[in-house]
Amino acid sequence: MCGIVGSIGISAPQSYLLKGLHRLEYRGYDSAGIALLNGNGELKLAKTAGKVSDLEPLIDQEFDASIGIGHTRWATHGSATTENAHPHQSASGRFVIVHNGVIDNYLELADTYLKGVTFRSATDTEVIVQLVELFAQTSDTVEDALLKVLNLLDGSYALALIDITEPDKLYAAKQKSPMLIGVAEDGFIVCSDALAGVQRTNEFIEIHDGELVALTSNDVTISDLEGNTVERESFKVDLTDDTLDKGIYPFYMLKEIEEQPIALRRISEVYSHEEAISNELLEAVKEADRIYIVACGTSYNSGFVSKSWFERIAQKPAEIHIASEFAYDMPLLSQKPFFIFISQSGETADSRHALLRVNQLGYQSLTITNVKNSTLSREATFTLLLHVGPEVAVASTKAYTAQLAVLGYLIHTLAGSVDTFSHELRQVEVAVERLIAQQEDFETIAEDDLLDTPNAFYIGRGLDHLVSMENALKLKEISYIQTEAFPAGELKHGTIALIEEGTPVIALMTQPNVAAQTRSNLEEVKARGAKAITIVSGDLKTASDTIILDEVPVYLRPFLTVVVGQLLAYYTALHKGYNVDQPRNLAKSVTVE
Ligand code: F6R
Repeated sequence: MCGIVGSIGISAPQSYLLKGLHRLEYRGYDSAGIALLNGNGELKLAKTAGKVSDLEPLIDQEFDASIGIGHTRWATHGSATTENAHPHQSASGRFVIVHNGVIDNYLELADTYLKGVTFRSATDTEVIVQLVELFAQTSDTVEDALLKVLNLLDGSYALALIDITEPDKLYAAKQKSPMLIGVAEDGFIVCSDALAGVQRTNEFIEIHDGELVALTSNDVTISDLEGNTVERESFKVDLTDDTLDKGIYPFYMLKEIEEQPIALRRISEVYSHEEAISNELLEAVKEADRIYIVACGTSYNSGFVSKSWFERIAQKPAEIHIASEFAYDMPLLSQKPFFIFISQSGETADSRHALLRVNQLGYQSLTITNVKNSTLSREATFTLLLHVGPEVAVASTKAYTAQLAVLGYLIHTLAGSVDTFSHELRQVEVAVERLIAQQEDFETIAEDDLLDTPNAFYIGRGLDHLVSMENALKLKEISYIQTEAFPAGELKHGTIALIEEGTPVIALMTQPNVAAQTRSNLEEVKARGAKAITIVSGDLKTASDTIILDEVPVYLRPFLTVVVGQLLAYYTALHKGYNVDQPRNLAKSVTVE
């Protein structure tokens, strides 16, 4: 949430900072700002409510900057105004900061230390920069002042700070929010996500929680919060700038939906090999008497399907929990629990909190994530990567199918049926390709049946209900149509009262054991005026059905129904004229609780 870029020593910092902010905009896009400092200590600060494209004309491209810091914001404290946009300055203007995260005790700190200070913003961030200025007056160095401040902060932060009296130094620090140092040819960069940095380097150094970094254009010093120096090797990321472009697509979401067949193939290449999943991980899962899957949002929804597979295919009892609930209200655990955290970004604060609780209890865990070296990956015992390339659109699509595929491989490896699964997944891949080729049909349904409705329902039973939850989330988050998913049989126990003339009810019917029952439930809502849209498997079709899917193995049908849901959501939002990739109020990678 929110994005940070910064640089020292590199050529053309304005272009790096702006491009980096565009890359990070998926993490927050309420307001943006950049501060540039030259060798004489002259500062240029530009910020605005709105998007990075609104900031662009305000940046002095000719300014000979040696240091820069930039930010794109997802508002937590204080509304999305220019005053609340980062960077923020201390009272005298000496220190300038950008910050991601939330300082829980900012009011208390302001009350204790900053009584006489007039604040220019409503943010928690401004408290940090004002404290740095206060402590700098009585400290030997800025590092000392910063260490004192960092030791006072409760909550989460990734921050970059400049001191206009030291135009050859850039400071950065991190606690529970991601932050990296990039080693560029002519200097260093800092960024809250490698995606912003790969335009200049693919060599990065991790900053760990509770560390402070001081950068000059040719040197990095990392220290812990006691001031002890820390040595850290760099690592390479295998991302290139080109892979991050939208190419011919109008929105990343469509690109990412269309990447799904290829993503499934890549996952098969990686995970169909015997040694792809370590024996240690397999043993840990085998020894467990119950699997606890913990996740949020779309990752939570994919967890439901995999819970069902764990029980049916690997005969392993499994339960699923919302991370933000699990962290504070843990269920009674079994004797030998094993925990699986599903997180596309690997940075979700709610999931991380839950993982910290599991680690405190001394249990083993697995993170399934798309991002190598992400926080959840580092902090879990085991990691399985999705290998699907960056997901940039805020609405998650290819991560869901990839999570199912990777979990499918884990479950089939446990059950000794990997070859069968690889073969079945190949059928799925072809069927998904065919759905994508058919997308104009879904566009027509979206235009005819969904554009003008204020609300809609997805219904289904069994796995169809589980996918309905994801499809409803997708439709509501990007088209703003209030959409709920219901087990088809449950609607008549109350919610059917909401069905009116023309209310769209999208029924998934791919599971032979319950399709007839769902059809009856659909008749009940049709009798009350609902507009029915049906998504059925070829073996269950009738003449009046709307979308017919290829007949892949029954338990793998979620791969198909979810892609239809993604495309219906995409085309509905597109034709409503919304920014599909950046839906209102949302941000990718939710790094605050
Ligand atoms: C919805 C969506 C969110 C995320 C959720 C968890 O399209 O993207 O619901 O799935 O915020 O994020 P990760 O998977 O990164 O932990």
